[in-house]
Amino acid sequence: MATYKLLLLPGDGIGTEVMAEVKRLIAWMNSHGLGSFETEEGLVGGAAYDAEGVAISDATMALAQASDAVIFGAVGGPKWADVPYEARPEAGLLRLRKDLALYANLRPAICYPALADASSLKREVVDGLDIMIVRELTGGVYFGEPKTIVDLGNGQKRAIDTQVYDTYEIERIGRVAFELARKRGNKVASMEKRNVMKSGVLWNEVMTALHAREFKDVALEHVLADAGGMQLVRWPKQFDVIVTDNLFGDLLSDVASMLTGSLGMLPSASLGDVDPATGTRKSMYEPVHGSAPDIQGKGIANPIAMLASFAMALRYSFGLGKEADFIETAIAATLDKGLRTADIKSDGTTVVGTREMGQAVIDEVARLAGA
Ligand code: NAD
Ligand code: IPM
Ligand code: MN
Repeated sequence: MATYKLLLLPGDGIGTEVMAEVKRLIAWMNSHGLGSFETEEGLVGGAAYDAEGVAISDATMALAQASDAVIFGAVGGPKWADVPYEARPEAGLLRLRKDLALYANLRPAICYPALADASSLKREVVDGLDIMIVRELTGGVYFGEPKTIVDLGNGQKRAIDTQVYDTYEIERIGRVAFELARKRGNKVASMEKRNVMKSGVLWNEVMTALHAREFKDVALEHVLADAGGMQLVRWPKQFDVIVTDNLFGDLLSDVASMLTGSLGMLPSASLGDVDPATGTRKSMYEPVHGSAPDIQGKGIANPIAMLASFAMALRYSFGLGKEADFIETAIAATLDKGLRTADIKSDGTTVVGTREMGQAVIDEVARLAGA
């Protein structure tokens, strides 16, 4: 059995709490022959700032570069509200994405049958939902230059963020979306704002050309991103794969999370290109949610997004599809049994903490694996 090197970066707030459950799952898998993982742990975000004065150190970046996958918790919180912009906790996450060239962010929003009543939307709107948001992750307004605040000298300042996309960046994320669609519902909705933004015009043009050239068998529709947000809450099941830029993808995936019941349910995979020489790719797996300062330290955070992110690591980085299925089926079975963390509770269910939910999922994995 191949041994994989994982770099665990718990980060801040509930990042450390949900990562604890992944660590227990990894230990269980190692000791029951379901995988062979070597783990190393590093500091990122506010935790790294407090210890090292930066949101991620060069040494930790080197560990990330050398690992087979990075498993990331969450960063940020009010404690670091006044640290210099360059050292803010979120900068650690952005450096990981940029330096590892993780341009493809896969954010699946699945409404587990047991949670159809946990959404703030009507059951029939979300029941059976299974969409995949493909967010461009290393370009756009997150990284475009100039990005600055200029003092105009007359008591006024000017803040500048720059949205930049090159053809190749749009094409490669489009290819990821079309290829995923072929294995799912064969439909892609490309979301931009070509009516206002030049980057939207190019995005639309490149998607159209790529589709005509390589993916005619997949249905493509172009949706203005604001209308896309509206459609996501009106009738989300019309979508299969949504492909969009860095900022719209950030917003639309938080919207999509509420279709599944809670932000605590949404996992993600951030992937780079496959290296033709080794057949491997750089990757990082993280829940979509943040450090949730409002509930940190209480032991009530939902660990499912984090555990499901680890399942995505098994599937996308290590070809361990069966083991990934075990984890995802175990999550569904745990929910079917009526166990809920506070964020997804409803009448007649049993509310448990982070630790109990993590253990219940591990118990189900054990049952499914016959171990
Ligand atoms: P958040 O995702 O941390 O929390 C939003 C709301 O969702 C809160 O009410 C929180 O309690 C709830 N929530 C989130 N995850 C949950 C879980 N697993 N279980 C139960 N409830 C959960 O977003 P925010 O409050 O806007 O941001 C807090 C900090 O996190 C900020 O510093 C922000 O920059 C950072 N952030 C980090 C990441 C990341 O590290 N990937 C992602 C988003 C936000
Ligand atoms: C996310 C987060 C990050 C983003 C922040 C923390 C930098 O909101 O992963 O969704 O904006 O991409
Ligand atoms: Mn976000």
